[in-house]
Amino acid sequence: METALEIRELHKKFGDKIVHQGVSFKLLKGEILGLFGGSGSGKSVILRSIIGLEKPDAGEIIFEGRDISILGERDMIAVRTKIAYVFQNGALFDSLTVEENLAYPLEEHTSLSDSEILEKINDMLDLIDMPGSNKLLPAELSGGMQKRAGLARAIILEPQVILFDEPTAGLDPVNTKRLVDNVKKLKKKGNTGIFVTHDIPSAFDICDRIAILFEGRIYVIDTVENIKNSSDDFVQAFITGALEHAN
Ligand SMILES: Nc1ncnc2c1ncn2[C@@H]1O[C@H](COP(=O)(O)OP(=O)(O)OP(=O)(O)O)[C@@H](O)[C@H]1O
Ligand SMILES: [Mg+2]
Repeated sequence: METALEIRELHKKFGDKIVHQGVSFKLLKGEILGLFGGSGSGKSVILRSIIGLEKPDAGEIIFEGRDISILGERDMIAVRTKIAYVFQNGALFDSLTVEENLAYPLEEHTSLSDSEILEKINDMLDLIDMPGSNKLLPAELSGGMQKRAGLARAIILEPQVILFDEPTAGLDPVNTKRLVDNVKKLKKKGNTGIFVTHDIPSAFDICDRIAILFEGRIYVIDTVENIKNSSDDFVQAFITGALEHAN
């Protein structure tokens, strides 16, 4: 299988606090890779490093044949049209309607006409089960709708890779299922992604493989089936929730 993104030997410290001490893994094209790890283990820092919001102290992030961890801000803007980061709270612009929020990346990065932009927005609103919500403001949306609208905005430029940071956190079961179904639809369309979560059942439902981050390294990376059936005590303790706070 082709590799979409490769993380090689990432190291990162904040002051004295060592977060990563040799994180390596490959994200394969077309897969959704679940990334588990205790709170504070460095999952978000991995995602933030991939889109250049953090700079690793050492290591490489290989995308399209080059190390993107050393690119400047200007080159990263282009990379961020291909690798999307879905913020936990949706991160919508409060004073803009849903339609204006979704139009923003298209106006910034494409030369589509107004009618083409509207068509794309409406397709995207269908995908996230929010048809007709064009004129609503973020404050008029439920938490689940805000998250899905944030997802829609993050992916409207049709990125190759989508980084999800705890997309189901804080959602009730109905909205969790909607979000999970949205991600499954994206996967069917051929998207690749990293799904950071503490929501182990949703990850098992969506993901092809799971990686567990522990003590600054990838402790294990394997198919969902093999992770579920692992004879490793740590993996079993982790996926049954017994180690939720380990890092
Ligand atoms: N900009 C920063 N400055 C200083 N410390 C930071 C910074 N960003 C992250 N950290 C620290 O790095 C560690 C890893 O943080 P990170 O946010 O990646 O954890 P996480 O695995 O995403 O946790 P959670 O599951 O709670 O979201 C934490 O101890 C955090 O306090
Ligand atoms: Mg996090």
